[in-house]
Amino acid sequence: MTLLRDQDLARAFDHASHTYDRLTALNPGYRTDLLRSARRLRLPGDGAGLHVLDLGCGTGASTRALLRAAPRARITAVDVSPGMLRRALAKPWPAHVRFLRLTAEEVATAGEGPFDAVFGAYLFRNVTDLDRVLAVVRALLRPGGRLAVHEYSLSGSAVHRALWTAVCHGVIIPAGTLSGDRALYRHLWASVLAFDTAPAFTDRLTRTGFTEVCAAPVAGWQTGIAHTFLARNGSAAAGEHAR
Ligand SMILES: C[S@@+](CC[C@H](N)C(=O)[O-])C[C@H]1O[C@@H](n2cnc3c(N)ncnc32)[C@H](O)[C@@H]1O
Repeated sequence: MTLLRDQDLARAFDHASHTYDRLTALNPGYRTDLLRSARRLRLPGDGAGLHVLDLGCGTGASTRALLRAAPRARITAVDVSPGMLRRALAKPWPAHVRFLRLTAEEVATAGEGPFDAVFGAYLFRNVTDLDRVLAVVRALLRPGGRLAVHEYSLSGSAVHRALWTAVCHGVIIPAGTLSGDRALYRHLWASVLAFDTAPAFTDRLTRTGFTEVCAAPVAGWQTGIAHTFLARNGSAAAGEHAR
């Protein structure tokens, strides 16, 4: 199984950026699922006065979901791939949404934050040092701030593992091969198998120091394959005192 990491992964996303939106449109529910996960952050009201981070924003599908969930929140969207960011920037955005080329690891040292909430959609499975990035995210969140992770993370059942492999070999990798991105879509398949199962990822979030950690399933064929993970930095009351 060949996993892509760091520069190799960024280059693969750059190359795939031209067809990324078309390929994800083939996945029924891609955008609806992102919106459901963004709404699970339960940002108050229309998000006015809040600062939200979209980590690994890609071509902006997750950023759009955040914007729909909290239309007046200030959104900072970051990604390592210039190609993916170019696609995002080509779309219309209100002035309170901005895009930066930064790795997840660099966001804190770049002086960004603090944030009231962080959204990471299909990002964490791709990072080289997961515990380090989760620690960075915690440090970026205000006390009481919330994290939502939308990710392919298997339930742990052999059925879901087999279904994921069947969908990848039957649909996703052939479609990716046609667009010249076979290595990236093989990475997608392999990285999900290598990533934490949903129970293991919730444990990891708790070990990192997050509170109120839970996993909610994604609907449709991805039930048992993708989840929204929710967590808080400290207690909700800490957030209220800090604001
Ligand atoms: C599968 S795409 C998801 C994009 C978007 N969040 C969405 O939901 O459509 C993953 C994105 O994460 C970015 N990425 C991977 N590793 C990263 C890292 N360490 N820091 C920042 N972005 C990263 C990739 O460049 C890619 O655009």
